[in-house]
Amino acid sequence: MRAKPARAEALDELRQTFGDRPVTQAERRDEVTALFDRIAPRYDLMNDLMSFGLHRLWKRAMVRLAVKQIRGREGSLIDLAGGTGDIALAVRAAVPAREVIVADASAGMLAEARRRGGDTLGYLQAEGEALPVESASAAGVTLSFGLRNMTDPALALQECARVLAPGSSLILLEFSRPATWFSPFYTLHSRYVIPALGALVARDRSAYGYLVQSIRRFPAAGDIARELEHAGFRVALTRRLMFGVAVLHVAEVI
Ligand SMILES: C[S@@+](CC[C@H](N)C(=O)[O-])C[C@H]1O[C@@H](n2cnc3c(N)ncnc32)[C@H](O)[C@@H]1O
Repeated sequence: MRAKPARAEALDELRQTFGDRPVTQAERRDEVTALFDRIAPRYDLMNDLMSFGLHRLWKRAMVRLAVKQIRGREGSLIDLAGGTGDIALAVRAAVPAREVIVADASAGMLAEARRRGGDTLGYLQAEGEALPVESASAAGVTLSFGLRNMTDPALALQECARVLAPGSSLILLEFSRPATWFSPFYTLHSRYVIPALGALVARDRSAYGYLVQSIRRFPAAGDIARELEHAGFRVALTRRLMFGVAVLHVAEVI
């Protein structure tokens, strides 16, 4: 039997923080959920403004990979931490016969998803660490900008591995560490532009302060690959986007 790779452990450090503030895990769960409940009505607009629309291109790439991965497989596609449902809706549009479920801990975000998706999608208010989903039943899981917000990110990866049918994949999109030359521009943007937009547009500077801090604390792509392997995946593809600002992983459950 193949030995499990050493833990990167960087993900575990997130469990005891809310942004830069030390908290218990229960506080982290409640604060993160309350934050997304609060910003849900402005979430999509803020994403467009903060990323100059780039998140749409990244998500398009993610959806293409997800559609390819689920082809020929039985079961539903679960869009974990699916938020307002943009990934789920795009997968559903590409493969109308497939059941697509948005799973999210925030009632506010799910309400936005339901407003957009109506009865074309399924909705599940659930935590990524304990999904009420049968083991080995899903054709694929997409997880876009959700891993760093999980209460226990490493446990959520294990839960993804549990619900996926053998040989099927988790398609993971998350912020990462940009190339050194690009870092100063990115730092300026996250230090000044994002909190200002958060205050002006979402009227919630602290929420967007948290988002910036959570991105800064999130481990580098190499560590995420090791965590995926530790959770029972084989990393089949790693794609850096916008000089490493975000990274896409396709991880096949072993
Ligand atoms: C940054 S949003 C990402 C939304 C969407 N996937 C996207 O890419 O725009 C993070 C989402 O993770 C959800 N979330 C946070 N912690 C969670 C948990 N433990 N279980 C499930 N969802 C969680 C939040 O409610 C929020 O909708």
